[in-house]
Amino acid sequence: MASSQTPTFHLDVAPIVFQHCAECHRPGEIGPMPLTTYEEVFAYGEFIEYVTATGYMPPWTPDDTYSHFVGERVLTEDELATLSAWVAAGKPEGDPADNPGLPDYPEGSQIGEPDLILTMADPYEHGGDMSDQYQVFVLPGDPDTDLSIRALEVRPGNRNVAHHAILGLDVSGTAQALDANDPDPGYESFGSFGFDAASNFFGGWVPGAATVTYPPGIGRTVPAGADVLLQMHYGPSPVTELDQTEVNVFFSEEPIEREVQTTFMSPQHLDQFFYLPANQTRTFHGTMEVSTDVSLISIVPHCHLIGKSWEVFATSPNNQDTIPLIAIPDWDFNWQGFFTFPTLTKIPQGYTLHGIATYDNTTNNPFNPNSPPQNVTFGEGTEDEMFFVFFDYVLYEAGDESIELGPSGDACPTDLTTDGVVSVDDLLALLSDFGCLSGCQADIDLDEAVTIADLLVLLGTFGTNC
Ligand code: HEC
Repeated sequence: MASSQTPTFHLDVAPIVFQHCAECHRPGEIGPMPLTTYEEVFAYGEFIEYVTATGYMPPWTPDDTYSHFVGERVLTEDELATLSAWVAAGKPEGDPADNPGLPDYPEGSQIGEPDLILTMADPYEHGGDMSDQYQVFVLPGDPDTDLSIRALEVRPGNRNVAHHAILGLDVSGTAQALDANDPDPGYESFGSFGFDAASNFFGGWVPGAATVTYPPGIGRTVPAGADVLLQMHYGPSPVTELDQTEVNVFFSEEPIEREVQTTFMSPQHLDQFFYLPANQTRTFHGTMEVSTDVSLISIVPHCHLIGKSWEVFATSPNNQDTIPLIAIPDWDFNWQGFFTFPTLTKIPQGYTLHGIATYDNTTNNPFNPNSPPQNVTFGEGTEDEMFFVFFDYVLYEAGDESIELGPSGDACPTDLTTDGVVSVDDLLALLSDFGCLSGCQADIDLDEAVTIADLLVLLGTFGTNC
């Protein structure tokens, strides 16, 4: 925005709202009202200024001055100033010719043709009683074959109520038994999966999240016979809604040489017993030593409704070096997420991981599930609490620091073979797909056909490292 000029909706405000808000605030999405036209944004102008200035919207809980993640949702100081100046000037419309138009929201997969689609067996009915629901669905993998996976993409069936999703892995059959005991499709579980699953954190989804594709050679395995677990959080709704969510599975094109592993910090790593007396605020400090060089991929702090804040970092043995990992100054259970680092993040052997969480079990905490506050212990229920930090990692290899973890779809759509560089192999892949009309991997411009236009886009990025 040129500072001497009064901002207008079409020229200055629409680009901000379309980029940062409309993915959720448009018809059929989780945002309570659409923000897609001048009239709609005009009606909420002052409210928009307020929710953005306070950081309530767009929802992004990590402190972006502490560390960075893929798909960060933050407004710059300039963007905030533009919104304020626009409201102060009386929310002028400006020239519709300046409007950039809404971005494309691809209906299908954002990253290509899936190799396998796992679907909830039956639609789930989420009651119209304005309550939240946490339901786990069991999606069988392949009974006979290990699946080598480079990406999992959650495709919510009904975005009116799908608030977020977490994926897990069960190799024990426990989830199937829990499902069989619950009359509804899937089974209810507020915390995570209701038992000690093989992985509590196999991926996930929040509205607008980019699907992360593992770099070549890095991936996850779903062992033969294992089940993928899908925990859906359905938001409050005044009417009954049906949902049947799918998980797109993308296989690794090359063998997985580096299996993604998960480790976690839990109450056993704490400096004191995990117990939250009524009417007290308590801070817990967990530590874990790193026994070999690792490269972190993602991090997930997890607690329930009494949790207030998180800080996770690593320190060197002499305390001379600190690696900041994540700070969440104002924890919001509704916007919990899993956070992927922009590049593989090395934590050297001998460093100590620290996880510090503060819990507010007083009446000052508006999310406190108990009124009056009660003594709270560790557990899965809404009224219990948790302390977990999940770390996804691979064993460190030289050069990891420069391996990017961005969403492959956005970062380098022309790298069709996803080998990290746009080369002759991609050209051949495109040519072999030439003339393809729907769901084609080489449809780079997403116009439902592989044409000369895609060839030109690819040639324009030839030689790029992705
Ligand atoms: C990831 C999805 C998402 C994005 C992105 C998002 N919102 Fe929201 N917004 C929501 C949801 C969901 C709610 C309902 C309250 C809640 O769950 O926190 C909400 C609530 C609001 C409210 C309050 C409405 C009310 O009546 O209480 C306003 C105003 C708002 N958003 C504006 C914005 C603006 C402006 C942006 C962009 C700068 C934005 N939102 C980005 C999902 C989103």
